[in-house]
Amino acid sequence: MSRGVVVIGGTSGIGREIARHRAERGDEVVLTGRDADRARTVAKEVGAARGLGLDLSRPREIAGALTDVGRVDHLVLAGVSRDANSVTEYDIDAAIHLVTLKLVGYTEVVHALRTRLHEDSAIVLFGGQAKERPYPGATTVATVNAGVTGLVNTLATELAPIRVNAVHPGVVGDSPFWSDKPQDILIANTPTGRLATMRDVVDAVDFLLGNRSVNAVNLNVDGGWLLR
Ligand SMILES: NC(=O)c1ccc[n+]([C@@H]2O[C@H](COP(=O)([O-])OP(=O)(O)OC[C@H]3O[C@@H](n4cnc5c(N)ncnc54)[C@H](OP(=O)(O)O)[C@@H]3O)[C@@H](O)[C@H]2O)c1
Repeated sequence: MSRGVVVIGGTSGIGREIARHRAERGDEVVLTGRDADRARTVAKEVGAARGLGLDLSRPREIAGALTDVGRVDHLVLAGVSRDANSVTEYDIDAAIHLVTLKLVGYTEVVHALRTRLHEDSAIVLFGGQAKERPYPGATTVATVNAGVTGLVNTLATELAPIRVNAVHPGVVGDSPFWSDKPQDILIANTPTGRLATMRDVVDAVDFLLGNRSVNAVNLNVDGGWLLR
């Protein structure tokens, strides 16, 4: 059965792989990025039905950007910008940008699409394992990823029977952000002896969206990082 899938932050990395995978499966995919032209180009590349421009850090404009979206069976919130921040040298503007993008922006997308979700719809939010194992510069990233856990709980409660889950990847070795960075120490600290791949994360998202009894789950996809 073809489903209506919306991938917010679908122009790059894991979001793009999710959009490509679901389009290949015959679903009607809408993907978004900040720039509408780029989103349309990527939509063509991956076989998605449409690409839309939407800036998560400008929540008041989100509803307008999503006006034309129809029925939503599966909603994936994957957008992120990289914020290198520390409490010692705190960049307030950068922090406000990322907190707005991930927490207010994600919530406003759900609010804006609320009437197009139905009782069998499912939502997956992206957090990340920086919340458990922060690295230098991860002050805001760790904060918002932990915030995603709270968001899952409140959305799953308020929107029931719509299911809401989150995926929390560790470092995804073949994602654009990490693929050109040193990985030896990260691999050595991963019990499985390999970093998670984009394919692994797409698979986890499919599971969370598809399994009708999995709800309010925060799923780690990190090869067991927390064991080390
Ligand atoms: N990669 C990893 O190792 C890793 C690990 C843990 C968690 N995660 C999480 O997984 C998700 C995907 O990560 P990724 O590495 O695949 O990301 P990515 O390649 O950097 O892609 C980020 C996406 O977000 C969009 N975006 C950026 N700023 C935006 C804004 N202000 N408004 C709306 N969209 C915006 C980008 O589109 P445009 O540039 O076209 O606007 C792009 O589609 C993120 O939520 C991230 O926190 C990733």
